[in-house]
Amino acid sequence: IRTIGVMTSGGDAPGMNAAIRAVARACAYYNVKCIGFYRGYQGMIEGDYCEMNARSVRNIISQGGTILKSARSEEFRTKEGRKKAMDHLKKLGIDAMVLIGGDGTFRGGQIFSEEFDIPVIGVPGTIDNDISGTNYTIGYDTALNTVIDAIDKIRDTASSHDRLFFIEVMGRDAGFIALNSGVGAGAEEILIPEEDLGLDRLLESLKRSKRSGKSSSIVVVSEGDKIGKNVYELADYVTENLPDYDVRVTVLGHMQRGGSPSCFDRTLASRLCVKAVELLLDGEKNVMVGLIDNKVTATSFDEGLSSEHEINKELLRISDILST
Ligand code: F6P
Repeated sequence: IRTIGVMTSGGDAPGMNAAIRAVARACAYYNVKCIGFYRGYQGMIEGDYCEMNARSVRNIISQGGTILKSARSEEFRTKEGRKKAMDHLKKLGIDAMVLIGGDGTFRGGQIFSEEFDIPVIGVPGTIDNDISGTNYTIGYDTALNTVIDAIDKIRDTASSHDRLFFIEVMGRDAGFIALNSGVGAGAEEILIPEEDLGLDRLLESLKRSKRSGKSSSIVVVSEGDKIGKNVYELADYVTENLPDYDVRVTVLGHMQRGGSPSCFDRTLASRLCVKAVELLLDGEKNVMVGLIDNKVTATSFDEGLSSEHEINKELLRISDILST
């Protein structure tokens, strides 16, 4: 392998720059040429790239976002789009690709590598943590800390005004961010897609907390929650049924994807991407790297994507006990 391509795709995540840096530096260390594509698969289709060396990734380890930019490419879903991308890879002499992104990125990579027999390695980068081939995805830890920081601030004003806040967090169809930030920020209730607690239980719990003398409360709601109401409808429903509560809603939104990555995410990105380059040099292909039980692992895309992501429901029990 003489030339490795790298790109970031899907929703950006803090630590993607640390990942790009690690790919470029590992390539430099092993005397392999490195080419970065802009805007994920779309940049591969359009031939929008830059040559990278050890110095071109200086000072980016601490930066949020991704210097290679990110996108979700509709065109790459078509065979013609993928053919255009492969033509550019051939023209540039690229022998293998490192794909940094989430499940959509990996699915695209799997099809691409099977279609054109090009080795690819996936590196999990998404704040959602919803990929089963790893315990942690790059960006998740930073996002959790961002959420905790925001909830702590909301708690200050909730407490001053004796209010109940519904706080919506990201996570697409997974409740990792909600569950862990909910426990970490001491939420009254945590609503996640993996467990439908039901509206009655929510009302009961809020009534109970009022009776127990609490004057303000935080409910963390995952954006993918299946309770059947969005966060605003939920707030209205609670206001109608529990008029004693003064209810407000905060949707944290895309701020969760920004910011300087935590040390954990920088280290994770560094470990996974050095491994990705080394696997390619060892002739490995079509796997994702991950961290399982604190060991860097390689898992086939099929396995890494097929099984359902597993949420730690024990945390719901802990939350129940501690919100007494
Ligand atoms: O996958 C990351 C994520 O931030 C999800 O949590 C969220 O559902 C989605 O991306 C938002 O996507 P967009 O940036 O297209 O609004």
